[in-house]
Amino acid sequence: MLIEPSILSADFASLGEACRLVEDNGCDRIHLDVMDGHFVPAITFGSATCAALRPYIRTVMDVHLMIAPADGHLTTFAETGADIITIHVEAGPHLHLSLQTIRQLGCKAGVALNPGTPASSIKCVLDEIDLVCVMTVNPGAGGQKFLDCQLPKIAEIRSMIGDRPIDIQVDGGISLLTAGPAAKAGANVLVAGSSVFNGDKDQIGERIQALRDAATIGAT
Ligand code: DX5
Ligand code: ZN
Repeated sequence: MLIEPSILSADFASLGEACRLVEDNGCDRIHLDVMDGHFVPAITFGSATCAALRPYIRTVMDVHLMIAPADGHLTTFAETGADIITIHVEAGPHLHLSLQTIRQLGCKAGVALNPGTPASSIKCVLDEIDLVCVMTVNPGAGGQKFLDCQLPKIAEIRSMIGDRPIDIQVDGGISLLTAGPAAKAGANVLVAGSSVFNGDKDQIGERIQALRDAATIGAT
């Protein structure tokens, strides 16, 4: 079970330090939420910020692109040193080609599904991806309520991928209450923003460990 803090809920004046802090406290990957004010209403940061954060990240830099169209920006985001680039099913007409492009650029390819998008939308790209991100909130903001109605979709995707080495990531509303059900449904990567960064900095390690424990117990 991998814990992937989203720095969306960190202090934007010190994002590098936030990456270091969660890595020093045992997280497995770092999640960067790029929003364009078009695909989603909010604007966060772009490739320059991702590139600036790269030296602060020793684990895995996972860039979640909530932008449309994404195709014209894939090279730039690959050049930031991203390990994983995740694009949305809903963000463009050429999903298969976009995912192939991400791999050709030397990154792992992820595909994200909005809550209203069915599992079947990724059936034809399963051999082009390394990660599926099931959005368990509507993308655009941290701190939203986990959508339980997405749990059957996680299970459906788990059975669709068979023995392919594809991570199933859940993104949105992950807490001590929802980590277990998400893991039980088949997720193995938990993105968590507010439940990691909200609260006392000194207890960030405890919060990461508690999420991991909740997921592990829930999965068994
Ligand atoms: C939502 C983002 C998430 C978000 C998760 O649009 O993709 O990564 O930061 O935040 P929490 O964990 O607070 O729901
Ligand atoms: Zn995200």
